[in-house]
Amino acid sequence: MTEHIKAEGPNSAEIEYWNGAAGEIWTDSNRLFDQMFEPLADLAIARAAPEPGERVLDIGCGCGTTTLLIAERVAPGGSITALDISTLMLARAREWAKTAPVPIQIINADAETHDFAPASFDVMFSQSGVMFFTNPNIAFANFHRALKPGGRVVFVCWRDPDLNPWMMLPVESVLHFAPDGFELPNADAPASPFSFAPQEKVKTLLADAGFTDVRHEAHKINIRIGEGDLNDCVDLAFKVVSPIRGILSQASDSDAQAVVDAVRAALAPYHTGNCIELAGSVWVVSARRP
Ligand SMILES: C[S@@+](CC[C@H](N)C(=O)[O-])C[C@H]1O[C@@H](n2cnc3c(N)ncnc32)[C@H](O)[C@@H]1O
Repeated sequence: MTEHIKAEGPNSAEIEYWNGAAGEIWTDSNRLFDQMFEPLADLAIARAAPEPGERVLDIGCGCGTTTLLIAERVAPGGSITALDISTLMLARAREWAKTAPVPIQIINADAETHDFAPASFDVMFSQSGVMFFTNPNIAFANFHRALKPGGRVVFVCWRDPDLNPWMMLPVESVLHFAPDGFELPNADAPASPFSFAPQEKVKTLLADAGFTDVRHEAHKINIRIGEGDLNDCVDLAFKVVSPIRGILSQASDSDAQAVVDAVRAALAPYHTGNCIELAGSVWVVSARRP
């Protein structure tokens, strides 16, 4: 049995989370998650524009989908270091890495504290993997040190919750079932998917870490949730939208079916063809180590 990294250090709660239910869900439904997040990968990889021979660091690489896409772009002669805290998701990445056209080094560690070789990467890339640090300042100072002078950082992250109905519509449909103390996902919680939504906050973070030429590009995208009939797609919505999973898991037996029904009713109008299609919006953020 593979041993997980220890749930210790500043991001211990995230280490537990991504090695528990979240890691299992993302690994088991990997193909459908990739379908959902394909628009993010296309935008972020186009902005990073990795070139043959370059050395790329993929932070929070998960199951390794973007790692493999980038591998195609840095061949021949390049290499990738793919790092994540989730041992489960990296097991999938390790399998796929065997088919890559360039060497891929996989590291199971916390990106905030990992001791990277200084000035060793041309590009630091991340698809939705940099919003979860307890101390983003320390993490980005670490990435700055790991980049070569002139190296670039490119990541994609979610914009405000109200621009992301694919996540918020199902959450709002079951708020009245939420337990006391439940907080909507928001920009202020450190490990929230929306923690990098405020543009000024991220600009300051990057500038404080020593980056220049900070650029935010806003993109509207369509998120395709699931595959098949409405019930199959609603099942996937419960997997990807963690707050509704949380509300369902804490609902009483008598409320549980009502929670599922409310989410299904909210999403039904958006089930077209064989998936649920809803709007989302992301920032593609880029910057440079001078
Ligand atoms: C939203 S998922 C995105 C995964 C992948 N990039 C993708 O788009 O399919 C966030 C990823 O960040 C990883 N992650 C969270 N905190 C991390 C940390 N401190 N260091 C490294 N990886 C982290 C999680 O394990 C997870 O794989």
